[in-house]
Parts: sequence; C-alpha cells; structure tokens
Amino acid sequence: MIVDRFGRRFRNLRVSLTAACNYACTYCVPNGKRLMRARDELSVEELLRGVELLMEVAGIEKLRITGGEPLVTPKFDGFLEGVMGMGLNDVSFTTNGQLLAGKVPLLARCGIERVNVSLDTLHQDRFRQIARGGDLDAVLTGIERCLDAGIRVKLNMVPLKTGNADQVLPMLAYALERGIELRFIELMRMGHLAHSAAFERDFLGMEDILAVIGSHYRYSRTDAAWDSTAVRFDVHSEDEGVVGQFGVIANESEPFCATCTRLRLSADGHLHGCLSSSNRHPIADLLRAPREEAVAGLEHALYGAMADKQSVAFSGGATVMKLIGG
Ligand code: 5AD
Repeated sequence: MIVDRFGRRFRNLRVSLTAACNYACTYCVPNGKRLMRARDELSVEELLRGVELLMEVAGIEKLRITGGEPLVTPKFDGFLEGVMGMGLNDVSFTTNGQLLAGKVPLLARCGIERVNVSLDTLHQDRFRQIARGGDLDAVLTGIERCLDAGIRVKLNMVPLKTGNADQVLPMLAYALERGIELRFIELMRMGHLAHSAAFERDFLGMEDILAVIGSHYRYSRTDAAWDSTAVRFDVHSEDEGVVGQFGVIANESEPFCATCTRLRLSADGHLHGCLSSSNRHPIADLLRAPREEAVAGLEHALYGAMADKQSVAFSGGATVMKLIGG
C-alpha cells in the first residue's frame, strides 16, 4: 500500500462512468454545450476490473460512482450490480437527480443506502439558468422517491454570488424538513474558472454562507470523519435540541488536502490523484492486461497519482469536474 509523507493513502475511489451529462451548468461548462461521452470510455467489465485491482493494490475501501452524470449511461445498472458484490465498506453515487426517480427500484434492490444529489436552487427559472438542462420537478420527485424507499439523501449546492446566493436559506429549510444533510460546496477554480474573473465574481466562502445561515438559525460546529472534506454543523432549535446538520466543503476557506484519501478513475481510464492537478495516469491498457502486469503497472501509476496531491491547499487547474465528477 502506498502511504505518503503526510500519512495519506488512497481509501476512497471515485469512478466516473461517462463524461456525458444532461446538464450544462454554468460553472462547469463555459459555452453551454451539453457534454458528450468521451471517445474511448471503459466498458462495465473494464471498470469493474479497475475497482477490483484498485481495492487490492491501493487499499480502496469506499466507492462513489460519478460522471458526467452517471445515470445517463446504460452502464450504470451493470456497474452498480457488479460493485455491490465486491466487499466494499461503502458504495454510493453522485447524481444531478434528473433520472433518479426511475432508478429507485434498482437502488433498493442493490441495497444502496444513500445518494448525493446536486441541486443548486429550488427556483424554476434559476434552475434553468444554472443547469441549462433538465427539469427541477424531476429532481425533487427523485429525492422524494429515495426518501420514501428509506435511502438517505445528501444535497450538494454550489452557492454562487450572482446565481443562487438567495437560495441558501430556502435550500437549508427544504433539507432540514426532510432530514437531508445539505452541503454547500465552495466554488473551485477548475477548468474555465481557473484563471477567470467569473471565479472572483461568484465565489461565496464559508464565512459568508455561515453569516446568512446565522441570520435565521443557531448552529454549532460538530464532528466530521477525519478524512471528510466537509466542515459539519448542527442546527439547533429554540429549546437547544438538534434539528439537523449541514456542511460546508470549504476548499478555499479550510483546505483539506493534508487528509485527502481520494483517488479518481475517469471514464476513459485515467487515474487522477488530485482535482487540482492536471496530471493523469493512463491505466486503460492495464485493465486489459494479465494480472501481474496490471498490478505492477497500477503500482507505478498510483505512486504518480499520490505525488500529484497538494500538500496544503487547492490551487486550481485545468481539470474539470465534468470529466471526473467531483
Ligand atoms: N466548484 C465546485 N463544485 C463544482 N461542481 C462542479 N464543478 C464545480 C466547481 N467548479 C459540483 C457539482 C456537483 C459536484 C459533482 O461537483 O455541482 O455537485
């Protein structure tokens, strides 16, 4: 197993099934063009072999399925069924929720316990302006169906100063009412935002988010897993009871690089050790190679990916979420 000088090792794997997405969110896609699948995307069999090998060689224990949007590809069902039998501690996925409602029977059958849904606003027009695809009601229905089936939901919201800052409180109220943990993701300097005035214009930091929440709720900081990316808070009611939690993924305000255990596999077969690095390590050929060769090649790629991790803070870069799904 590879451990670096910060004691970091790879524990969480995020697998992007496809680069395709049925949204074109303003902060992800600069020109509003819908994302297409990459030319050489891995098959379900190759992806499953990748997970199996990475569990063994890198010590992966947790898996998150991402995209693009993972529910747009027919690979989702077979991949999910395949990984559920692999003995991972935890399997979940991140979705924009557009196609979620129809997948609930599959999720229930596979024993999926929780999903992360990305939702930036509860306002129809704003939704169309930010996501530039899909329909808000479909997302809300998907969330309700999951909750009805006993699947826990976390919500991811990227607050933007000029887009949805006024949605911080409505989104929190919506989440608290349903026992959902809402996570505010600080905008990251990725892709076209890496060197752009749009980042400075839209960035809303943890301090500002907490100030807005503090105007309506009482909250206090609470525990988070040691390798969690989120700073977590309890929300208190009038009589001191805790009525729920929310979190802030504070990439900028409170960077978590020093405890990052994440490894990413892109849909076209590259390992990424860090969202902030444009380095990537091709492993597609290894996934078709005999075992010994695959293990040796993966070890080499993993050393490279580990060296790409930042020591202190996220500095941004050309890599885009659309390829590796957060
Ligand atoms: N900064 C912060 N979050 C982002 N996401 C996509 N691009 C960015 C960015 N530049 C979020 C999506 C989704 C998750 C996968 O990552 O909104 O919730």
